[in-house]
Amino acid sequence: MKPLEWINGNIRFLDQTKLPLEEVFIKTDDVAVLAEAIRHLAIRGAPLIGIAAAYGVALASLQIKKNEVNEVRSYLQSTIDFLASTRPTAVNLFWALKRQRRVLDAWQINSIADLQKRLIDEALLIHQEDFEMCERISSFGVELLPQSCSILTHCNAGALATGGRGTALGIISKAWEDGKLKCVYIDETRPLLQGARLTAWEMKQANIPATLIADNTAAILMKQRKIDAVIVGADRIAINGDVANKVGTYNIAVLAKHHGIPFYAAAPISTIDFQMKTGEDIPIEERDGKEVTEVLGKRIAPEGVAVYSPAFDVTPNELITAIVTDQGIVYPPFSDSLMHLQSQS
Ligand code: MRU
Repeated sequence: MKPLEWINGNIRFLDQTKLPLEEVFIKTDDVAVLAEAIRHLAIRGAPLIGIAAAYGVALASLQIKKNEVNEVRSYLQSTIDFLASTRPTAVNLFWALKRQRRVLDAWQINSIADLQKRLIDEALLIHQEDFEMCERISSFGVELLPQSCSILTHCNAGALATGGRGTALGIISKAWEDGKLKCVYIDETRPLLQGARLTAWEMKQANIPATLIADNTAAILMKQRKIDAVIVGADRIAINGDVANKVGTYNIAVLAKHHGIPFYAAAPISTIDFQMKTGEDIPIEERDGKEVTEVLGKRIAPEGVAVYSPAFDVTPNELITAIVTDQGIVYPPFSDSLMHLQSQS
């Protein structure tokens, strides 16, 4: 299952807002449609947002008719700025756009066809690299897990969120293939239910034994010693190891620490923000209160109630046992281990 594909100058993507009730694919050559899909989470998950944005720049280049170099540059720069405005937290978005920006800067031949090809090739490469990064993360991460383990995960960090098998869910599905996994517990992940709608759907497709829980059930499960490890994805990792991920991740990390359960974050190198010293500075997206007052379009709270709806939270590094990257597993102190990773990559 591919949540997003480049097909002859178009992007075809699965509208994740409709899952699991309907599997609707949308095909477009319009950057505005793509940007809106990212904004309303039809395309979501940090790595996939980056991949989509890279394709978005390629799409925009195909709309260029005039052969005027300066106009091309300013048009594509404004497209990059427009795509960068879709969501603020996942750093993969800015990382991928920066790669396209570099392609634009390096372009010297006065041929639009040449630039279009370069931008398409770069987007395809970003997509392919993410596939490979997921494979490596999965292979590294599975080594951390004991035999017959039960894992808790939050949100969706699987094939729907990446260019491959996923990060956290990549490790979990690899553990299943290797005969190590007993069961995955899935937090439903309010408000937008990425766990219930997306992770449960992915696990069902792959025939992996999964148990869906309401978000507030994790504590009792841990107390009953039913969780061997927690594995989550990430939207942005600061160099001190603080991890921004779907709101509610921090709650589970606190619970895991209290119960002595290892807590792992899994992410490709594109999710590490080497400019960000601590998680305190990570911009946290706030979303429309309707996402809390309504469930699947049906109001569940009284009209006019105040709502606070951050889409992400930051788990402090002292709650994190290890971070699984495509370059290997890093342990505290993360300021040292992540910097070492940067110098190698
Ligand atoms: O708001 P979303 O659904 O885009 O949030 C997704 C997450 O928080 C994921 O855990 C994260 O992006 C990692 S996906 C490999």
